[in-house]
Amino acid sequence: MIGSFESKEDIKIIEFGAGNGTLAYDIKKSLNTLGCKNFSYEPIDKLPSNSVEKIYTYDEKKIQKANGIIISNELFDALPHHLYEIKNNKVYEKYVIWKNNKYEEILDSPSDSCISKRIKKIDKFFDNAVGEVYCSQSSIFNSFIAYLNKGYIVTIDYGLSEKDLFYNGKKNSNISVINDHNFYENYFYKPGFSDITFQVDINELLYNFKNINYELSYLGNQREFLFDLGIGEILGKLSSLDKPPEEINYNRYAINQLIKPNGMGSYFVTVHSNFDTNFKFSEIKLNENLLDNIPLIEDYPQRFELPGVYKKNNIIKEGWK
Ligand SMILES: C[S@@+](CC[C@H](N)C(=O)[O-])C[C@H]1O[C@@H](n2cnc3c(N)ncnc32)[C@H](O)[C@@H]1O
Repeated sequence: MIGSFESKEDIKIIEFGAGNGTLAYDIKKSLNTLGCKNFSYEPIDKLPSNSVEKIYTYDEKKIQKANGIIISNELFDALPHHLYEIKNNKVYEKYVIWKNNKYEEILDSPSDSCISKRIKKIDKFFDNAVGEVYCSQSSIFNSFIAYLNKGYIVTIDYGLSEKDLFYNGKKNSNISVINDHNFYENYFYKPGFSDITFQVDINELLYNFKNINYELSYLGNQREFLFDLGIGEILGKLSSLDKPPEEINYNRYAINQLIKPNGMGSYFVTVHSNFDTNFKFSEIKLNENLLDNIPLIEDYPQRFELPGVYKKNNIIKEGWK
């Protein structure tokens, strides 16, 4: 992608929702390993971080429009959503109140017309259902326009297409509450300490990209995407590396997590662009340097711990948790 700009200038890679900078660290390292030098990397998050990587908040980073690549991994599932309930044909929004020393859910008129607008777009009629809607007006999409002249936007996330998200009015909530790597359905679980995530509404996401004049050039799942990028060849080569077996196992386990068909392998990946480019994901060729310099997982203080059997071989030091 960087090569396709036909430019001598550095290509800016901007990661939105960079969190603790793990992906930023890994991408920079891998590009360096492949000998790619003409890029800069700007990890941005709405929250400050005490990460080893410098993560910029929106206030800290003056926008300088450039040619580049925007990347986000698990950003959209973390954006605020409205929860709604349709009862006897009437749309309500769910709110939270503090009553008798505890949080309670109540229904009231929607705070924003975007909820009903999204529901009206659905072909099927449905009643007595609950769900969640992302309202794009306040949007991250304006930030994308503000940062990029010509460019690509690569989005990795988990989500559902409309027919599964608003399934026949039978849908219950798709919210997950994650705390300390465990999943809960109760979004009152440890408020402020838990991560409340949503299934991204893929149809709406594609619509929003169209709206800012970005054309879709790739839509697939993470498994296919990584295989196209050579992860199969990497897996094959791993075993023959002159490295301790624990390190090889650790890397193999991590790769398997990313491509698991009913796990992260089913995440979706989209590539959009707003200019005429000769880059075609379907014609991508394996960079032979990659197999000679496989970027293995390196110590990074805030990296998530891999579970189970790999704990005893863990490279994450105790004090970093
Ligand atoms: C799951 S983390 C992403 C991790 C990171 N991309 C990685 O792969 O290592 C999601 C991040 O999105 C951030 N976020 C949520 N809303 C945002 C917004 N409007 N703009 C930028 N970042 C946002 C959160 O603060 C959180 O750090």
